[in-house]
Amino acid sequence: MKQAWSTELINKAWDFATLAHQGQTYATPDPHIRLDYINHVGAVTMELMWELARSTDNTIDGNLVLQCALLHDVIEDTNYSHDDLVQSFGKAVADGVLALSKKPDLPRSAQMHDSLMRIRQQPREVWMVKMADRINNLSPPPAHWTKERIQAYGQEGQLIHDELQSAHAGLAQRLQEKINAYAAYAKA
Ligand code: NI
Repeated sequence: MKQAWSTELINKAWDFATLAHQGQTYATPDPHIRLDYINHVGAVTMELMWELARSTDNTIDGNLVLQCALLHDVIEDTNYSHDDLVQSFGKAVADGVLALSKKPDLPRSAQMHDSLMRIRQQPREVWMVKMADRINNLSPPPAHWTKERIQAYGQEGQLIHDELQSAHAGLAQRLQEKINAYAAYAKA
């Protein structure tokens, strides 16, 4: 297999993300268990590593994909800014992460459309991160979510798939499978 990414760059982004998200946790199907946020970040990154490892497409920039994956929630969920990411990781990575960040000043209902529009103005590596993010987020939902919320989340997944599928066939297929399986949680 060809070397698809730089271990040095990826380790630097992983360390940055681990520090940035330190102390943050998220809900799981078990109401007594919360996971460290970095687990989500790692799962998204691994999803993309698997795709890069099995891909025969040499035109994908593995360093851009994986740095954006590791940092994808840093602007939205921590105190670090676009400028901080430009300084540490360069403009391409910082711009990708910014597109992946919802704008909190917009109405909630408009935030995903707005982010998808900005993602579509980025290289397809950034589109791939968004698909991998939702693949991981379509894991079994937290116990306190209502059926309506689960249903809406699945529908939003379908919107992400439909808008971004042309970036990568393998990820689009994985995402569609996760969306289809997720529908069962709204019926349970
Ligand atoms: Ni995420």
